[in-house]
Amino acid sequence: MEIRPFRPEDLPLLKQMTVEAFDGVSIDQGIEREFGPVNGHDWRWRKARHIDEDVARESEGIFVAELDGRVIGYITTWQDREASMGHIPNLAFVPEMRGKGMGRRLIEFALEHFRNSGLSHARIETLVQNDIGNHLYQSIGFREVARQIHFAMDLNAPPASPDSSAPAE
Ligand SMILES: CC(C)(COP(=O)(O)OP(=O)(O)OC[C@H]1O[C@@H](n2cnc3c(N)ncnc32)[C@H](O)[C@@H]1OP(=O)(O)O)[C@@H](O)C(=O)NCCC(=O)NCCS
Repeated sequence: MEIRPFRPEDLPLLKQMTVEAFDGVSIDQGIEREFGPVNGHDWRWRKARHIDEDVARESEGIFVAELDGRVIGYITTWQDREASMGHIPNLAFVPEMRGKGMGRRLIEFALEHFRNSGLSHARIETLVQNDIGNHLYQSIGFREVARQIHFAMDLNAPPASPDSSAPAE
């Protein structure tokens, strides 16, 4: 596997890999499960835009994994230098290349990129249901520091009464 900097022409493929890889491990998909498509857009449309955002924020922090000239994975990163914190918002591999240790290598590459920039800490997050993420990040050395619950609501739905969850008398 070779790791190289992101090039603008990678973007469509990275977005396609993202929507394939995040099936089952996406907050946007959870929203769709509850509410259906929003404003005519499905979860894949919303998730793919995260990569647009990563490119806009710090395209030089995106690295692409290639095998025999074929793009097989990527990782996006950005740096908060004042806080000395490196962030990894997204990473994915094509399905047939997973579980071969390449995700680990790509994350370690990103961590070295942070160290070379003088950062002292790094952050990554994953959903509870993402078994691989939960295992892999901890085995690399990340420690769990918090759990978060994501909520969404339909702004046009009738308002819920404050005691709607209370048992009926
Ligand atoms: C997450 C991802 C990028 C990791 O890349 P990868 O190349 O598969 O990762 P690696 O092969 O380096 O490591 C996978 C680890 O998970 C372990 N693993 C695999 N399946 C597992 C499972 N069901 N439960 C727990 N651990 C599992 C492997 O044994 C390996 O750990 P080890 O090195 O200690 O043996 C890749 O799996 C992927 O694209 N997943 C879908 C998208 C995704 O979840 N992205 C991250 C969102 S936070």
